Amino acid sequence: MAKDKSTYICNECGASSPRWLGKCPGCGAWNSLVESVAEPASAGKNRLGSAFTALAPASPVRPLAAIEAVDVARTPTGQPELDRVLGGGIVEGGVVLIGGDPGIGKSTLLLQALDALQRADLPAPGGATAGEAPASAEHPGTPSPPPGRPKAASAPDSGTSGGPSPARGSTPRAAGERGGTLYVTGEESGAQVALRARRLGITGSQVAVLAEIQLERILATLAEQRPAVAVIDSIQTVYSDQLTSAPGSVAQVRECAAHLTRWAKSSGCAIVLVGHVTKDGQLAGPRVLEHMVDTVLYFEGDTHSSYRLIRAIKNRFGAVNEIGVFAMTEKGLKGVSNPSAIFLSQHSQPVPGSCVLVTLEGTRPMLVEIQALVDTGGVSPRRLSVGLERDRLAMLPAVLHQHDGVATGDQDVCVNAVGAVRLSEPAADLAVMLAITSSLRGKALPKGFLAFGEVGLAGEVRPAPRGQERLKEAAKLGFSVAVVPKANAPKKADKAFEGLTIHAVERVDEAMALVRGLD
Ligand code: TYD
Ligand code: MG
Repeated sequence: MAKDKSTYICNECGASSPRWLGKCPGCGAWNSLVESVAEPASAGKNRLGSAFTALAPASPVRPLAAIEAVDVARTPTGQPELDRVLGGGIVEGGVVLIGGDPGIGKSTLLLQALDALQRADLPAPGGATAGEAPASAEHPGTPSPPPGRPKAASAPDSGTSGGPSPARGSTPRAAGERGGTLYVTGEESGAQVALRARRLGITGSQVAVLAEIQLERILATLAEQRPAVAVIDSIQTVYSDQLTSAPGSVAQVRECAAHLTRWAKSSGCAIVLVGHVTKDGQLAGPRVLEHMVDTVLYFEGDTHSSYRLIRAIKNRFGAVNEIGVFAMTEKGLKGVSNPSAIFLSQHSQPVPGSCVLVTLEGTRPMLVEIQALVDTGGVSPRRLSVGLERDRLAMLPAVLHQHDGVATGDQDVCVNAVGAVRLSEPAADLAVMLAITSSLRGKALPKGFLAFGEVGLAGEVRPAPRGQERLKEAAKLGFSVAVVPKANAPKKADKAFEGLTIHAVERVDEAMALVRGLD
């Protein structure tokens, strides 16, 4: 037999090259080519049919006006915080990719959500009613020999529901009707999943569990069980017979995700793919994965603290940058419906180097405390940040020096956003600056103080989006003094801001002078 040939595939765009190159010939990205095994020519020919099928079902040409804009049907997952990031619930035929560090709680959350979905009004999947809880370790429900090719498994219908499908004797539903949930685990055995369910206090669950990593068998099970929602935990463990490369390789992840996506679109089954992340927090595998799916969610947070955030990075069915907040408890993840105050540390008296800001994540304002520590630096003073962008932090002391004469050039500056939140919006600038000056002077900001606003290199303070909403949240939580950009200050008195003294500023030096005068 001929030796398998290597080919190099770009992680960013999926282009391939016969030899390794530093720069991708397709998209020009550097260092993005990874080795994978070239497919034998015959397999390539065989796969053509399925490899080039569109992800969404094909349809004839029609004028846009003639296409009916149907609202997508959403099923709430029983976890309001998860529904919030999904844009209201699981969408029929939608594919969700959820990534996060190991141990952050992806499997836990999805098992909880599946159980709730199963208990809601989703009818039990065919056969599971007789079979009982997913307690057995070895491949429960692994179907008899799979149809040879994924295409065959996804062939039966093209509509969203009710295609012709072999009627099953024990199925309580009509032939072809979708229903129930399926949890495919490639990382844990059925027994481990059952153990987790017990820990979560889930008893008598009818969620169908399949411990399987072979794509063709998973697709056959999907075709047989016809679940309404299926979870694949995780996409990196799944492999297809059609490819020779190892599970987790770029080619495998891309192929398997494409087949599952196609199945979701053609059958109307909602699929949730769990994805691993790389060291720097990106979803592992080809970048095309993120383009393929409808929704990309990131699970973040510090495994040492109990709070977890789910952030929507992409959502074809809802808003992005929406976040859901959870607390990890003894009994799994619990949604935190009013998270505005969890990212504040509880000081009995104001301390130097601390400033609170109101950040707006998606549609929800949240109060976050910024802590700064300025200390005598060595030969090359450092700028350290946790939860904030490094480059922005490097910029702010320079602006402070140029526009207010506060020199930190020979000092180490450390900045931390409390509670392991990641702040990406520039509206944090003013609060970071005030925390730095407060630490430098060893003087605390007044009690009940907060600030927000973007700071420009010219020393101007720019407005933050939806400033009034932020101020209302602060007033609701009993804050008493706010320094905000001029355009964000309310024009007329409003009952919602009662108890909050709002100072409007236009420039950095103005803000600093104002804060020095407060006591
Ligand atoms: P898990 O869902 O296995 O993470 P992932 O699938 O993202 O790798 O999360 C497991 C962690 O959560 C583990 O460290 C233990 C903790 N945990 C709890 O604190 N309470 C619980 O009820 C459960 C099930 C897990
Ligand atoms: Mg897991």
